[in-house]
Amino acid sequence: MEELRQGAKVAFASSFSFYLKAHNFHWNVEGVDFKQYHDLFGNIYEEVYGSIDTFAEQIRGLGTYVPASYSRFSMLTQIEDETTILPQQEMVQELLADNEKIIKVLKILFQQSEAQGEYGFSDFVAGRIDAHRKHGWMLRASSKV
Ligand SMILES: [Fe+2]
Repeated sequence: MEELRQGAKVAFASSFSFYLKAHNFHWNVEGVDFKQYHDLFGNIYEEVYGSIDTFAEQIRGLGTYVPASYSRFSMLTQIEDETTILPQQEMVQELLADNEKIIKVLKILFQQSEAQGEYGFSDFVAGRIDAHRKHGWMLRASSKV
C-alpha cells in the first residue's frame, strides 16, 4: 500500500509538471502557425489541469497527504523543467516525449493499484491513461511534416 501511495504522489507531481509545461508552451509559443500551437497546448493544459483536483482527492482517499509545493514537486516529478524558449516544433516534440513518460508512470500506477484492490483508483488512473493517449495523438499529428 505504501508503494501505491508513493507511486500516486510521483504520478501526481509529474502530471502537475506536465500541465505547467503545456501552459508554458501555450503562453510562449511563437511562429507563423502561432494560433494553431497556442490552441493545441491550450487544449492539453486545460484538460490536464482539469484532472488535478480529482487526482489530489483520490490520493487523500488512499489515506495519505497530497504533495503541493514546488519543492516537493521537484523531488517527485518525472518531468524535467523547461526554462528556455524553444522553437514550435521542439515544444511539440518535448511535450510528446513527456507525454510518453506520463503514460509509463500511469501504467505502473495502474498495476500497483490493481494489486492493492483499489479498483476505484484504478478506474481514475485508466481515465488519465486514455486522456494522455489522446494528447499523444494530437501532438504526434501536429509534428508530422
Ligand atoms: Fe490562454
